[in-house]
Parts: sequence; structure tokens; C-alpha cells
Amino acid sequence: MAAYVISKELDPAKDTVLFEGKDHKVIYLGSRRGSEAKGVDVLSYLVIDRGEGIIIDPGGYALFPLIVFNVSKYISLEKIKYLYFCHQDPDVCGSLPMWKDVCPKAKIVIGELWSRFLPHFGVTEVEESLEALPKEGKRIPLGRSHLEAIPAHYMHSPNHFTLYDPVSKFLFTGDIGIALGNFKYLVVNDWLEHLEYLYTPHRILMASNKVTKQWAERVKKLEIKAILPQHGAIIPEEFVPYFIKFMENLKCGVDLI
Ligand SMILES: [Fe+2]
Ligand SMILES: [Fe+2]
Repeated sequence: MAAYVISKELDPAKDTVLFEGKDHKVIYLGSRRGSEAKGVDVLSYLVIDRGEGIIIDPGGYALFPLIVFNVSKYISLEKIKYLYFCHQDPDVCGSLPMWKDVCPKAKIVIGELWSRFLPHFGVTEVEESLEALPKEGKRIPLGRSHLEAIPAHYMHSPNHFTLYDPVSKFLFTGDIGIALGNFKYLVVNDWLEHLEYLYTPHRILMASNKVTKQWAERVKKLEIKAILPQHGAIIPEEFVPYFIKFMENLKCGVDLI
């Protein structure tokens, strides 16, 4: 029997199993507190299916000791099959060279546009290490399941992806659904209050309504139990339709020039 723990009481400072099914787990890595005062906060996640793991957006340099410690509670590092980076920013990729040191066999999953930038993170054997995502997205096999990389280009990065887990029905959205501000919760409780924190980053970072609307159309077809962004707070199922509507109607980026 699958169990969800998307509770309003969750502590951003603590790693937590958010979903547990038969041989499948999704873990929040307790990263938001770890990045406080050192830059913009970060939410990192781990998905395990039948003993194989993928780390979703491991975060910047300063977060590495905390994340590697927390990941090791759930899976041995040699079982990490992929290090996934939704796009190229330092708050997502800054810890990449350290991860390659401790998980030398793990594949780096990132949009193909960014593959030629990997040597600048200190990745030398790019060919052997890379699982590049084509712009139309692809399936990433994990254990006996898979994750679906869904295009989210220009939101904000020109080569950006969201990741759907068909087992937990979680959508990992990277810089989409992020919220910035001085709030303490990990799971959104009050949608109107949270909108205040969502609005400014989306207005500034997303390229235009054309792309946000297209993305909303794409993800509307999915059954989504929660939206798990890379900053701010997790959006639980009850608010997912509100968030998709928000993205459909958003005026942002070049719309405002
Ligand atoms: Fe970013
Ligand atoms: Fe980010």
C-alpha cells in the first residue's frame, strides 16, 4: 500500500520520506535549512526504485556535506544511477564535481545544450558521464520504473526540464513553482498567502506567457499528487489546479516590456 506524507507540519530542516510504495520511495533531502544564509534556499530530492537512485537537483557547493550525509541514510552512494540537473544554474549544479567524486559511475542527466559547459564544472570524461536530454525530453529508466523528462524551455533556462514520476505522481519542476520570501513552511497551506511569494520570481524569471501556457497544457494531462520545485515550498494536490491556472494566465518576462 502506497503512503504519502505531504503534511503541512513537515520541517524544512529535516529529510523526510514523502512517498513510500512497493520498492519505490521519494525523499525530500532536508536541504532548505542547509542553504539558509548562504544564498537562495534549495529543495533537493532523491527517488529510489528497486534499489537504484536518482538525485534531483543536488544544489550548490555549500550544500554538499548535508546532502551527501542525508542521501547515505537511504541508499549507498554506489547505487546512485543518475545525478539530475534541471538546468545549468549554480544553485542546481554547484556541487556537481563533488558528486562525481563520490559517485564516479553515476550518469549526469542534463539538457543537451548544457553538455559542453560540463568541463567548466571540472567534469573531464563528459562522453562517458553524460545522459543528455534532447529538447523534446525523454524517459529515464530507473529500477523497474522510469521518470519522464518533460520540456520546460525558457522557464527560465532555455534548456530546462520538469521530471514526472508515474509511481508517486510527483512532478519535480525545478525553477517552476518556486517561491522566495521569509516563510517557514515546507508544504503550502494557504494558497493566497503563498501566491505573494510565487508571483515575483515567476514574473521576472519566466520568458513569456507563450511558454508558461504551453507548459501548463503539457502537464494538465498528468495526474499530479504534488508539485516539488527547487526553491520555496511543495505545492500539494489540492492547490495544483490553481498553480496550473496561474501559469496559464501569467504575464511575465518579455510580456512586460
Ligand atoms: Fe535557475
Ligand atoms: Fe533555481
